[in-house]
Order: sequence, then C-alpha cells, then structure tokens
Amino acid sequence: MGIRLLIFVFMINSIQCIFSQFIPADKYLINCGSSTNTTIDNRVFASDTSFSSILSTPKDISVNTTANLISSFDNSALYNTSRVFVGPSSYSFPIKKIGRHYIRLYFFAFSHQAYNLSAATFSVSTQNFVLLSNFQTPNASTAVFKEFSVNITSEKLILYFEPLDSLAFINAIEVFSAPDDLITNTAKNLNPKGTYSGLSSNAFETVYRINMGGPKITQKNDTLWRTWIPDAEFLFNTNSATFVNVSTPIKYKKGSPTREIAPDFVYNMATKASNLLTVSNPTFNVTWEFNVDKSSTYLIRMHFCDIVSNALNLLYFNVYINGYSADQNLDLSILTSKSLATPYYADYIATDDLGKVRVSIGPSDMENIKPDGILNGLEIMKMNLNSIDELKSSSKKHKIGVISGTVIGACSLIVSVACLYMTIKKKKKEKKLLKKHNSRTWIPLSFFGSKSYAKRSKNSNGTSSSYGEYSNSQLALQFPLIVIQEATNNFDESRVIGVGGFGKVYRGILRDETRVAVKRGNPKSQQGMKEFRTEIEMLSRLRHRHLVSLIGFCDEDKEMILIYEFMEKGTLKSHLYGSSVTNLSWKQRLEICIGAAKGLHYLHTGQQKAIIHRDVKSANILLDENLIAKVSDFGLSKTGPEMDQTHVSTAVKGSFGYLDPEYFRRQQLTEKSDVYSFGVVMLEVLCARPVIDPTLTRDMVNLAEWATEYVKRGELEKIIDHKLDGKIKAESLRKFSETAMKCLAEFGVDRPTVNDVLWNLEYALQLQEDGEVSDHDGLEENGKSLKELVDVFGGNKLEDDLIDLSKTFSVSRVFSQLIKIEEVSIMKTEEGR
Ligand SMILES: *[C@@H]1O[C@H](CO)[C@@H](O)[C@H](O)[C@H]1NC(C)=O
Ligand SMILES: *[C@@H]1O[C@H](CO)[C@@H](O)[C@H](O)[C@H]1NC(C)=O
Ligand SMILES: *[C@@H]1O[C@H](CO)[C@@H](O)[C@H](O)[C@H]1NC(C)=O
Ligand SMILES: *[C@@H]1O[C@H](CO)[C@@H](O)[C@H](O)[C@H]1NC(C)=O
Ligand SMILES: *[C@@H]1O[C@H](CO)[C@@H](O)[C@H](O)[C@H]1NC(C)=O
Ligand SMILES: *[C@@H]1O[C@H](CO)[C@@H](O)[C@H](O)[C@H]1NC(C)=O
Ligand SMILES: *[C@@H]1O[C@H](CO)[C@@H](O)[C@H](O)[C@H]1NC(C)=O
Ligand SMILES: *[C@@H]1O[C@H](CO)[C@@H](O)[C@H](O)[C@H]1NC(C)=O
Ligand SMILES: *[C@@H]1O[C@H](CO)[C@@H](O)[C@H](O)[C@H]1NC(C)=O
Repeated sequence: MGIRLLIFVFMINSIQCIFSQFIPADKYLINCGSSTNTTIDNRVFASDTSFSSILSTPKDISVNTTANLISSFDNSALYNTSRVFVGPSSYSFPIKKIGRHYIRLYFFAFSHQAYNLSAATFSVSTQNFVLLSNFQTPNASTAVFKEFSVNITSEKLILYFEPLDSLAFINAIEVFSAPDDLITNTAKNLNPKGTYSGLSSNAFETVYRINMGGPKITQKNDTLWRTWIPDAEFLFNTNSATFVNVSTPIKYKKGSPTREIAPDFVYNMATKASNLLTVSNPTFNVTWEFNVDKSSTYLIRMHFCDIVSNALNLLYFNVYINGYSADQNLDLSILTSKSLATPYYADYIATDDLGKVRVSIGPSDMENIKPDGILNGLEIMKMNLNSIDELKSSSKKHKIGVISGTVIGACSLIVSVACLYMTIKKKKKEKKLLKKHNSRTWIPLSFFGSKSYAKRSKNSNGTSSSYGEYSNSQLALQFPLIVIQEATNNFDESRVIGVGGFGKVYRGILRDETRVAVKRGNPKSQQGMKEFRTEIEMLSRLRHRHLVSLIGFCDEDKEMILIYEFMEKGTLKSHLYGSSVTNLSWKQRLEICIGAAKGLHYLHTGQQKAIIHRDVKSANILLDENLIAKVSDFGLSKTGPEMDQTHVSTAVKGSFGYLDPEYFRRQQLTEKSDVYSFGVVMLEVLCARPVIDPTLTRDMVNLAEWATEYVKRGELEKIIDHKLDGKIKAESLRKFSETAMKCLAEFGVDRPTVNDVLWNLEYALQLQEDGEVSDHDGLEENGKSLKELVDVFGGNKLEDDLIDLSKTFSVSRVFSQLIKIEEVSIMKTEEGR
C-alpha cells in the first residue's frame, strides 16, 4: 500500500515534471483586423476590436480577404485579416511583469481592392527599439513571420507602426512573457576572445532556429510556441553528417537548461559527424552555412545533448563559428556534471561582415579520441537592433567583462560594427525617403515642400551625408529621421520656437516624453554643414550643468538636425527686451550671469585644450524652467591655442556688437574674445537694450560704446533698466559695472579671465543680498583693484595670458577681414531677431 502510494506520488511528480507548462505573466494574442476570435492549437487569438483600448489612434482600418490563401503557411488562419494604418499608429499593451518578452509579428500582403498591401513600406518599433525599419513584404505570395525578444522595463509596451509611403499593416501580434533565464547576461565573444556582458538589456531578432537532425518542430510541440526548422538545407556537405533521433527521456536537471530553453524534441535529435567518411578522410568538419545581413552582430546559441554515447567521456569535439575556434575538446560529460542525455547550451557572439554565419563541429585534437561531433539545436539571433532612446548612451550599455586582455578590443569592435550596421540601415532609408518625397507624401511637407526635395534629389549623387566624418561616440547620438518627424509632428509650423541663420527650431516631444528643442538646418546654407559638425563634435564631448546638452542629431537625407534638451524659458535676450520681456530681478540677473560664466569657464578650462565659444551673446544663453542659465550654440567654436602659441589665427566670425575689437583687428582668437563678448552681455543685462540699435542716435547705436561713456562720466544710473531703478544696491552695481568694463578692455591682456569674472559676479551677488559684508575677511573693496579683490576672494590667480603683440598681420589682411565681418554681421543680425 505504502509502496503503491509512493509510486503514485512519483508518477504524479514525473507527469507534472513533463507536462508542467510555462505560464506567461503577460500574454496577448491578437488577430488584427478580424471581427472574430481565431483559435490555433488551443491558443485564442482575439479580435483586436475586443481590445479597443489597445488601439491608441483611430487612423486604422480593418480589412479582410476572400482570396484563396496559401494554406501551407503556418497559422494561415491568422492571415485572412489585416489592420491597415494610413498614418502613424500604435498598439499599447499593459505589462504586468517587466523583463524579457517575445514580440511576434505576422504579415501577409494579400490582395485587396482598396489597399495595395504589397506596396506598403513601414517601420515597426517599441519605445526603445526599432524592430523593423523600411520593412516591405518580399512579394505578394509570401507570409512573413518575425520574432523579437525584448527586455521590457516599463509598465507599458507600445508598438508603433509608421508608414513611410502610404500605409502600414499587420495581420497578427503575439506579446508574451518569456522566462527570465532565457537570455543570460554574458556570452563568449569570439573575435577577439573575451566575455561579452550586457545581453540582458539587449533586444534580439530571431533569424534562424534549427532542430538539428530532425523534422520541423511546430509551435504546438514547443513550450514557448517556437518553430524549429530542420538543418538539412543548411548543411555544407550532406555526406559529412548523419541524423540521429532517439526516444531516450531527456534529463532536465537542476542547473541544466529547462524545457523553455529548448523542448525535448530538439535534444532528442541531433546531427552527428558521419562515420562513413572516416576511412578515406578521417578528419573533417561538419559545417552549416546561414545567410544573414552583412555587418551585424549575432548571438549564436548551440544546443547539445549527448544522446549518442553509451558511456561518459567518450565524445570530444571542437566547435568553430566563422572560422574562429569557439570551443575546443568540448566534453559534454563534464559540462552536464557526468550525465548523459542531459541538455547543455552555449552562447557565442559573432560579428560578421560576409553576410554568412558558418557553424562547424570538428574532430578534437586530442590523441586516441575517435573523430566525432554532435549538434542538437542552433539559434541565431541578431543583436544590434537600432535603439531609439538608448542611442545616446548605447556605447556605455555594452559593458564588457574583465576576463581577458583583449576585452577592450572586443568592445570597440562590437560598437563599431553596430555603427556600421546603423550606417547601412540609414543609407537604405535615405534612398527610401527620397523616393517617398518624390512620390506621394503621407504628411504635408510644410518646410521644404516636395518641389525642393525633387530638385535636390536630382543633384544628390555623391553628396549624401558622410558618416565617415563622425566618431563612434557621435554616431551613438544619431536619431532616425522618423523619430524626429514624430516628435515634431512632422515639423509642424505651429511648433516653431525660433528661427535663425542655421534654420528653424521646433519644440518636440520624444516617446519617453522628454521635451526637446529640434534645430533643423537650412539646407541652403553651405557653411551650415561645418557649424553642424562642430556643434556635434563639441557637444558630444562636453557635459556641464551650464551648457545646453545635445541629446542627438540626424544627418539623414540631407537633413542637418540637432536635438537639444528643451529650455523652457527661452533665451536670456527675450527676457530683457523685445516682445516677451519679463521682470527679472537683479538677483535673478546676477544668477543668470553667474551660470553663464560657469558654463564659459568650463569651456575655457574644462578640457585639455581651451574651447573658445566665439559667439557669446544673450541669444545664446538659454534658461530652463528654474531660470538656470546654460550656454548654447557651439557652431562657431574653436579649440584654443596650443601651449606654445598664444592665439588661433582664423577668419573673423561672431555677432556684430559683441565682437572683440582686438580679434577684429588682428584676427587672433583667445579666450579673452569670449570675455569681451560676455562684458557686452553684462551690459545688456544691466541696460536691457539691444547691443546694436541702428534706430538710435549715433552715440547710442552701440551699447558697449554708449555704456562705457556713461560709466566714464559716472552716470551709469541714468542708463540702467528702469525696472531695476532703486532695486540695485550701489555696491553691487559698482562691482558689476566695474567688472563689465574690465571685460571690455581694448586689449585682451587687460581683460580678466572668465574665472575672475565669475568671482566678481558672485561677489556682486553677495553685496546685493547682504548689505553687511564686513571688512574683517578682507572683502571690502575700498580702493582695492579688481585683481586684489579676486585674489582675496577666491584665491584664484589672474592668468595674465601674454599675448604676442608682434607684427604678424598685414594691412591687406585686416582689410579683407573687415569685409568678412560685414557679411557675418548681416547674417548674424538676421539670426538675432
Ligand atoms: C470581412 O469584412 C466584412 C465587411 O467588409 C465583414 O462583414 C466580415 O465580418 C469580415 N470578416 C472577418 C473575418 O472579419
Ligand atoms: C474573444 O476573446 C476575448 C479575449 O480572450 C474575449 O474577451 C471575447 O469574449 C472573445 N470573443 C468571442 C466572440 O469569443
Ligand atoms: C481563413 O482562410 C482559410 C483559407 O482561406 C479558411 O479556410 C478559413 O476559414 C479562414 N478563417 C477565417 C476565420 O475566416
Ligand atoms: C501594388 O504595389 C506593387 C509594388 O509597388 C506593384 O508592383 C503592384 O503593381 C501594385 N498593385 C496594384 C494592383 O496596384
Ligand atoms: C516570393 O518570395 C518567395 C521567397 O522569397 C519565393 O520563394 C517565391 O517564389 C516568390 N514568389 C513570387 C511570385 O515572386
Ligand atoms: C532587464 O534589464 C534590466 C536592466 O536593463 C535588468 O536589470 C534585468 O535583469 C533584465 N531582465 C532580464 C530578464 O534580462
Ligand atoms: C508534435 O505534436 C504532435 C501532437 O501534438 C505529434 O503528433 C507530433 O508527432 C509531434 N512531433 C513533432 C516532431 O513535432
Ligand atoms: C526517428 O527515426 C525513425 C527511424 O530511425 C523514424 O521512423 C522516425 O520517424 C524518426 N522520428 C522523427 C521524429 O523524426
Ligand atoms: C575545421 O574548421 C576550422 C575552422 O575553419 C579549421 O581551423 C580546422 O582546421 C577544420 N578542421 C578540419 C579537420 O578540417
């Protein structure tokens, strides 16, 4: 009786063990466009009309076909209906359990009288990854099934469908939780050897899933509803291999792979090195070859299970991928803790630039071992899907472990291959976009108009964007154009927040709800390209609280687009004068000046080589929602002098009214040129008037000259902003104006450094806030020079940059520079409005 019970319990256990099914926490099966539910292998694909909350936008239509379907498709019942999108649209799925999920998409371009589905070109993406870009079904008689695995980290998955031409469509969708251990964080990197770490946040596209040695395994025989196809057609030399199938129960042990990694059928079958050839040619490899996209990175998972040996430690073999040794003298008995018929899998990372993945098993090089080898299953997953909002930090995300010395090489290789892949994708997209704009457009093109596109595409040969000019870290900031179009509602005119010489600036919202400013380059401006590159170059290197940060850029289809953090309160200039003046208090103005000076100070000293902004002005100082000032617009920036030089010789550029007279005369650029411009900004802040106002009388046109005159006369109070009347403490005003005047010194050598300016501003703020600055700490300034003050206050040295005042310029050059200045000033005044 007791024994019977025991046996019974044992049976129940083993039955549970065999049949316990994986139950996904999240599970959405949708038959798109259908009005009824469809059941396939006990799985109910619900009509998407019953998921009305899932559809976020009504820009879609459900269509169905009465055409004779090719019923040999797997799940052909899912292909009878389709949802068609005539504009960007999305499905949104609430997620209960964050972590890895499968996303499966079914496409079939059936014929329909109203919609030509075979002409659809579109992209499908999640919040974080572009799953399909410029996707088109290969032809009207082939169904396409795509599987992705994505680690979802938010409580909602949104699948975006974006038509490139006229429409997008989808026949069915599956979204369900996968087991957490399906993809582990690390894999063996093959070239160079090392450990690749960071897989768990990656997205993958399944490219091949093979059942070695066996027939096709359909969804109903796989715990995760996967399909495994036979390997025969991929075998390089069919004579080299024999297929094995056994009915031995597979031992899924603790610590070994589970049924969710691969089902029994996969491990019960294998392709094995053939014995037939051993006599004539005792050593050979069994090789499979798979066509893949060129220049991509793949996670290759090989499934092993020793179902051929009669005893332990008899089977030894080598494994190669793309000619690289992946494992040598693999001994499954050891890897499975001395157990036959026990599954084992190994993950490898392979990069490929041939468009092929070659997997081989070959004889071990150990003596007295029978040449043999076995492989039970193989999965090839494409890794580097274009990421959307992780683009900006993707290089950081791919952490490479610390196993071997060549690991750093592996990292850069992977990143650069990823970039190459992106480049290729982009180039493809570029073509598509041109096509799009030449033909019918799905959204009104408000800015360029289709005419100018057509014209530009004609002379486009050879002048497409040159990705070679960006470094890897910069490429990581690249955004697909479609994302920017979406963020700005396709450059909606109502979103324009500024217009400058470079082009228009739009307000935008990214999918993760980050607000951004999108600066779209004017394609007509030739010099724009250079400034565009400079800005990307500078800002991808610089990060500072008081510098506007670059979120990304787009150099696609002749677009020059820069994406910045959104600065809620606009330019400093707009707060001072013009149509939207606000009441900034003196304290606020000082704090803004201090912030801007900190940003400039970082530019001048934060890097190995000083960076000279060259276009410091109130329109380039932006304010965030808390009125924190940030310096922007690095389009003209240049790195400063080398140690053995004291200046950079360069064509004079900058904005009229802010331009350093010394730079103007001698075309020699130093940090002190920025200091001069900053002095002008300080006067703007104080007087709240334009730096150049041609409508005024001659002596008033130029702010710097005018204010200097009043300071000399000791009548500064007469010209300050009336809103500040009686609100500035005299000491604070004196400190401030004195500093501004020093900045405006005729020669750079006489001007303070930005750091000195900063300390003086802080001091002016303190004088304003606290009338009782006492002299015990030496801060009273009676009779003290600026230099002494700064020395006492901050302990910072006054860097007297000794400028070589020698004779390096000729009259004619000065003359030619003067002409240039006029050109610049015209352009820049335009920008100023
Ligand atoms: C196909 O469309 C027709 C109307 O266009 C509708 O009556 C029918 O229910 C649809 N069939 C399916 C399977 O959705
Ligand atoms: C279809 O499936 C959904 C979800 O499983 C269910 O709520 C709905 O009642 C089903 N509709 C029909 C007509 O069976
Ligand atoms: C789908 O199409 C197949 C083949 O044309 C047909 O047998 C089946 O009934 C259709 N299913 C639905 C739900 O319309
Ligand atoms: C549908 O589009 C494809 C691809 O653009 C084209 O070859 C085909 O002729 C079109 N069919 C119809 C009926 O317009
Ligand atoms: C459609 O594509 C499939 C696979 O790419 C191919 O086998 C088939 O012959 C193609 N059919 C036509 C009509 O081009
Ligand atoms: C998903 O990614 C997060 C971090 O991005 C990681 O902590 C987590 O372990 C991942 N989950 C899985 C199942 O890989
Ligand atoms: C799959 O499952 C079906 C029944 O569910 C069975 O008849 C078939 O033999 C199985 N075999 C394979 C290889 O999928
Ligand atoms: C396994 O091999 C036997 C013959 O050796 C064959 O009859 C059987 O169909 C095979 N099973 C599978 C699932 O391929
Ligand atoms: C098997 O392939 C690898 C990699 O291409 C090669 O190095 C090795 O020599 C081959 N072995 C045999 C026995 O051909």
